Amino acid sequence: MTENKNWEVISTSLEPSQLIVDETLFHVANGYIGVRGNFEEEYPNGYDTIRGTYINGLYDISEVKHGEKLQGFIDSKQKIINITDVQGIQLFIEGDKFSLFEGEILEYTRILDMKAGVARRHVVWKSPKGHILQIDIKRMASFVKPELFVIEYAVKSVNYEGEIILVSTQKGEVSNYFNPNDPRVAGEYEKHLTVKEITREEHIDLIHSETNTSKLKVVSAVKHIVSAPCQIESTSDRLSLTSKIKFNIELGKTEKLVKYCVFTDSIRCADPSISAICIMQEAAQMPLIKLYKLQQGYLDEFWNRSDVVVEGDSNLQQGIRFSLFELLQSVGKDKYSNIAAKGLSGEGYEGHYFWDTEIYMLPFFLLTNQKLAENLLSYRYEKLDDARNNARLMGHKKGALYPWRTISGSECSAYFPSGPAQYHIDADIAYMFVQHYLVTNDLDFVVHKGAEVLFETARLWMDAGHYAEDRFVIDAITGPDEYTCIVNNNYYTNSMAKYNLKWAAKFFYLLKGTNQLDDLIKKIQITEEEAEKWDEAYQKMYLPYDKELDINPQDDTFLSKAVWDFENTPKDKYPLLLHYHPLYIYRHQVCKQADTVLAHFLLEDEEKLSTIQNSFDYYEKITTHDSSLSTCIFSIVASKLGNIRKAYDYFMQTTRLDLDNTHHNTKDGIHTANMGGTYMGMVYGFAGLRIKETGIYFNPILPDEWEGYAFKICYQNRVIEVRVNKRESSFKLLEGEKVTIHIKDIKYELCGELVIEI
Ligand code: BGC
Repeated sequence: MTENKNWEVISTSLEPSQLIVDETLFHVANGYIGVRGNFEEEYPNGYDTIRGTYINGLYDISEVKHGEKLQGFIDSKQKIINITDVQGIQLFIEGDKFSLFEGEILEYTRILDMKAGVARRHVVWKSPKGHILQIDIKRMASFVKPELFVIEYAVKSVNYEGEIILVSTQKGEVSNYFNPNDPRVAGEYEKHLTVKEITREEHIDLIHSETNTSKLKVVSAVKHIVSAPCQIESTSDRLSLTSKIKFNIELGKTEKLVKYCVFTDSIRCADPSISAICIMQEAAQMPLIKLYKLQQGYLDEFWNRSDVVVEGDSNLQQGIRFSLFELLQSVGKDKYSNIAAKGLSGEGYEGHYFWDTEIYMLPFFLLTNQKLAENLLSYRYEKLDDARNNARLMGHKKGALYPWRTISGSECSAYFPSGPAQYHIDADIAYMFVQHYLVTNDLDFVVHKGAEVLFETARLWMDAGHYAEDRFVIDAITGPDEYTCIVNNNYYTNSMAKYNLKWAAKFFYLLKGTNQLDDLIKKIQITEEEAEKWDEAYQKMYLPYDKELDINPQDDTFLSKAVWDFENTPKDKYPLLLHYHPLYIYRHQVCKQADTVLAHFLLEDEEKLSTIQNSFDYYEKITTHDSSLSTCIFSIVASKLGNIRKAYDYFMQTTRLDLDNTHHNTKDGIHTANMGGTYMGMVYGFAGLRIKETGIYFNPILPDEWEGYAFKICYQNRVIEVRVNKRESSFKLLEGEKVTIHIKDIKYELCGELVIEI
């Protein structure tokens, strides 16, 4: 398979409506900091912008007001905050200020280079006075030094000799974005960060700030390095620092300003000011070229492990690579952080972490970078006490209930019907701990982290459900489909809880005789009797089934509701959540996203194929895909059912969702779960990967539109490369000992390469 060249995202648009979307698409992040792709010189007045810089896991707390506050409702929530703005650089030439909206633009492109890990802006600009400059700006959020963000600002003179002035700013007065009419972003203006002090030490400009309620400290530090002999005039006021840099430029010559910016916070550092200075001194000593090289090296390794190559559709290839790159940019790389629904690219969903992480994004990391996957699972383990407290808040005497959305561990959803009522998040987390075990065989991780999470979530199910006529039922919860709330026996929830209970009991019995559970047994007092009860509830879990239709009803009353009047719903009324009262929506058979269909992907052996097929057909007709978490799942299940056309169509709706802004809200940030869904659509969908207790399975198919595809996965200390083309599929063991694999349900021993006709 030839190497595919599609490593860039390119924009040449200066349309105001696209500029705000490009701020998201061209953001740079490394899992710790994220900086939106704002123009250094800003836009003209009146242009919409969300100017932002974020730190993963750093939050302030805002009050939640309820008109009618009932028992257990939250009264505060965490939210990601916009921190100090270090992006500002203004250029002046003979009194004219550089702007893409004045003078004449002779060339303009911006590029996100996913191989090098930088965003670039290239402009050739004729000033109103007729001077022509070429301006090349490169930005990088370093993967190797996570606190570091760099702007390299290069100016080349085409027809001018004389003075250039660059004014570089660092502004501490920032606020968050809000929109009172969109429930997917914050609803009201609030200021979260206060500048405490401004200092300058050893040519490093520092702003020391503090969050207003959570009292977390954030420090930003800036240092300038200029290629030409220059004069720097530095000033500051209470809230900002400005450096006016003057130098002369010769005809045809390029001069550069490198703006090193470092961010630190008090969650990670005992003294963020000292840390910022140390990190800056170390970083600014390194030639920029070295920092770029390190970035490139990090990404070479990433792509070598994680790339998914598709031959025959370069737009699609770009969408896939963009998704994988964004997952890497978004994923928290320490125990304090996770992956926000919008990564570090914007403020949508207020920087919260959801079930999106486990069910949509973790599979990518688990198969390509197990250390990052373990970090994500460890984050949940660390938050177990918060989940225990949350369970008490929700009235449960035992067990742990993970919050629906959170940053630091407590519940941040104020709307319980489609928030805290989504108990399935417990089983989703448990499911991924089990997947981790099946993929890595790492029983140690189960002993030290997974078992406690599974036991406590199993306890929660025992407390949330009950027996009715010898069946274990779970009442008054909400499944993944947020257009149907507070129901009894949501099929997805019950089947996932069943799996949770089964594996809690299994782990208990597996470890019981080994002494390895002794500490845990002491800590949370598990008894064999309790494990037996989990096992019994697993055996007796009720899963709704309709014999006549041979489908799994989404819940006990779903099929008796009126079907939504799709024919008379104009296109501009979607997404429905922005146009109809929730109760009106709940009263109908209409789904926002895959629910039962998702269960049929995750737990495919639970039902017969005809039930999965009939359910797919049934839910397909009533699903709006108003959530970006939906089409990827329909694609995967269509692949399973052998419907390549549908699998392809749903996949194509998934892969470029942000690049083409198909949900019209990319300005608020990327849709990270959808990006994980893109990966899954290829690997679990077209290649048919499943990892079960009985082993690893593939079932490759290839849409006519493509020449082929290829990827690698890690499985039980092996690396397996999968390549599929129009004639055959090949499975090659790149690392590790021989292993049994199943291809189209036939068992093979894989030791070298195995080639099978497709
Ligand atoms: C979806 C949820 C998801 C959330 C964050 C909502 O629109 O319905 O399933 O967790 O977005 O991505």
